[in-house]
Order: sequence, then C-alpha cells, then structure tokens
Amino acid sequence: MHIDVLSVIPQLLESPLSHSMMKRAQTKKLLYVSVHNLRDWAVNEYGQLDDYQYGGGAGMVMMCEPLEKAILDLGKSKIFDEIIYLTPDGETLNQNLANQLSLKQNLLLICGHYKGIDQRIRDHYITKEISIGDYVLSGGELAATVLIDAVGRLLPGVLNDETSALTDSFQDNLLAPPVYTRPAEYNGWRVPSVLLSGDLKKIDEWRYEESLKKTAERRPDLSDHIDH
Ligand code: 6GU
Repeated sequence: MHIDVLSVIPQLLESPLSHSMMKRAQTKKLLYVSVHNLRDWAVNEYGQLDDYQYGGGAGMVMMCEPLEKAILDLGKSKIFDEIIYLTPDGETLNQNLANQLSLKQNLLLICGHYKGIDQRIRDHYITKEISIGDYVLSGGELAATVLIDAVGRLLPGVLNDETSALTDSFQDNLLAPPVYTRPAEYNGWRVPSVLLSGDLKKIDEWRYEESLKKTAERRPDLSDHIDH
C-alpha cells in the first residue's frame, strides 16, 4: 500500500512512522508512506497557503490552488483509490473503516490546519472525510498518523502473528478479553485457573464470555452489532 500525505507540518508525522510496527511495515515494503510539504505548492514566494475567510470571522482557510496543484502533481504517478481529508466533521474512524481502507492500494491523506480547507476542494477532489473522534485537534497530522497506524498494522505480514489482528478489540464489535502472563501468582493475585488448564475449548469459551461481559458493561453501543 502507498500512502501519500499532504501537510504543512510534515515533521509531526516523522517519529510515529519511524518506530515499532510502522517502521516494520515500511522496512518489509508492505507500506510506503511519503509525506509532502504543502508549502512546496504555495501560491507565492512567501509560502502563502491560507487566506481570510469570505463572510468574515476568525481564522484562516487553506486556499484551493496549492491543494489542487499538489493533488494533481501527486496524481501524475498513481491513481488514488481515496483522497481523504482529515477533519473533525468527517465520518468517525472505527475498525470497520480501517479494515476497508487496508484493502486499498493508494491513499492520499490531506491534513487541514487553521479553520480548514476551502469547501470547493472538498466538493471536487475529496472522496472521504474522516475524523478520529469527537474532540478537536490543532491539525490533521495526528489524526493522519492514527489512521496510518490503524490501517498499516492490518496489512498482511505486518504483525508478527498474522492472526493477532483478528483477536484485537473491535474486530467482531467485541472488546478484547483480559490477558495474563507469568507468574501464575503475584502478590497473592492468581491467574484465572481456566487459563492454566490446557483445555483450549474451555479457554476459548472463557475468553468469549469475558469479551461479551466487558463489551456489555463498557460499550453497550457495540453489543447491538455483535454477530452471534
Ligand atoms: Cl481528523 N482533525 C482535527 N483537526 N481534529 C480532529 C480530527 C481531525 N479528528 C478528531 N479531531
């Protein structure tokens, strides 16, 4: 998968993409991420990218021209399956959307700043608008990073144990069950005995029951969507 990112602060994406799973995904050539500085498409020598909003009001708006030029330039070498604008008023990212995006070849992510981008770019170029939750961030970069991580780890071969993404929280609209490691007793706190029993069927049943219980308690909204 190729992900191109357009940002005014490309440095914000550097560290999260340079470690752990995202590093692995790129080293193994399963994921290519190119972060581009939108400033390279600025409208003048001052590097201007934004302007006052029509109708008045506080806050600048990112102009059409640099965004269109950047989108067209990057589109010369590939066809984007989706051109995604990260914005708090977009569709909320969830595991289902991450799964869908992980099946694509080429994504372009656009990180907004200030009051956002000119609506005409949204109308004419953006194919998906995604938010990472109901709170406001200073810009789209951290949201883009979250999206790249959530999608990147789903690419086949990125995780050590290929099945482990399947047992994550949310994959079946269920929260993950509790996990334990050695020692079997710590401070007098014991690991549930079923996990030490070696009975794989019983263990699976216990995990499933724990998942159901936790989901019903914490996320009754998810419980409505569980496939039994
Ligand atoms: Cl995608 N962008 C910004 N600026 N804030 C957000 C967000 C995105 N998702 C949640 N809050």
